[in-house]
Amino acid sequence: MKPYVLITGASSGIGYEFAKRFALEGYPVIMVSSNDEKLSRACSEIKDHIKNCEIIKIVQDLSKRGVSEELYHKVQDLNIEVGILINNAGIGYAGEFIKSEIRQQEDLMMLNMNNLVLLTHYIAKDMVANKSGKILNVASNGAFQPGPYIGTYYATKSFVLSFSQALRRELKSYGITVSTLCPGETVSDFARRAGKQQLKFSMPARKVADVGYRGLMKGKNVILPGIHNKAALLVPKKIRSLIIAKVYGNI
Ligand SMILES: NC(=O)c1ccc[n+]([C@@H]2O[C@H](COP(=O)([O-])OP(=O)(O)OC[C@H]3O[C@@H](n4cnc5c(N)ncnc54)[C@H](OP(=O)(O)O)[C@@H]3O)[C@@H](O)[C@H]2O)c1
Repeated sequence: MKPYVLITGASSGIGYEFAKRFALEGYPVIMVSSNDEKLSRACSEIKDHIKNCEIIKIVQDLSKRGVSEELYHKVQDLNIEVGILINNAGIGYAGEFIKSEIRQQEDLMMLNMNNLVLLTHYIAKDMVANKSGKILNVASNGAFQPGPYIGTYYATKSFVLSFSQALRRELKSYGITVSTLCPGETVSDFARRAGKQQLKFSMPARKVADVGYRGLMKGKNVILPGIHNKAALLVPKKIRSLIIAKVYGNI
């Protein structure tokens, strides 16, 4: 019997492709997101395409304080032990910081960082008790340098990368691996929701999830999908930040 895989942000983009991939590989999947209608559609699509797959839907807004506990209790009520956790839910916000809607920035930080940490805490404790588990946190290639005009988002992803690498070390002795996926531009709802344009060289979400799946299964530390995204990191950090300022300062 394969372990349950809990995926946050599974209603679209990379999270949806992860859900499909795990279901195809015969894993029972718990799909989480905040929009009931969108999530129901995503769950039905997967069930229609993959015979006999087990898909559980949990609607949970993860952008508020205290909601990770709610999600954890919903999982406990189902009498399920999560063997693989994919912390994928995330949003961005592009534009000048001082003109931004500060409550949206707060929700972004709560979703991308606080609730990722809290959910990891609850689920990793159970994994430690079981002496096995895998965690994949979705950061971004934005984690590697400051991002003017998209600064809060990039900073949350630097946090995710740093936190995940530290936790990887701590959990190693318990037989649990922690991996970090750092995608570059990816085709999904992300750009529209962040108020930016979908760039031409974006990778398909399915490809990103595929690289992420294989990296996670191998217990890799940091997973960077796409040769162009790897190559971009060879450019000095200061120049990368200047390019980002140019791209996002003009939207
Ligand atoms: N696309 C890119 O270029 C790119 C690049 C690097 C990293 N990433 C990261 O990849 C991850 C997935 O993004 P994506 O590109 O697949 O974008 P996406 O298609 O917009 O997917 C985001 C997912 O997060 C969920 N979500 C949003 N707000 C939520 C909330 N308050 N509570 C619970 N779930 C919420 C969304 O579902 P609901 O709307 O149903 O809640 C959706 O399932 C994010 O962490 C993002 O930062 C994306």
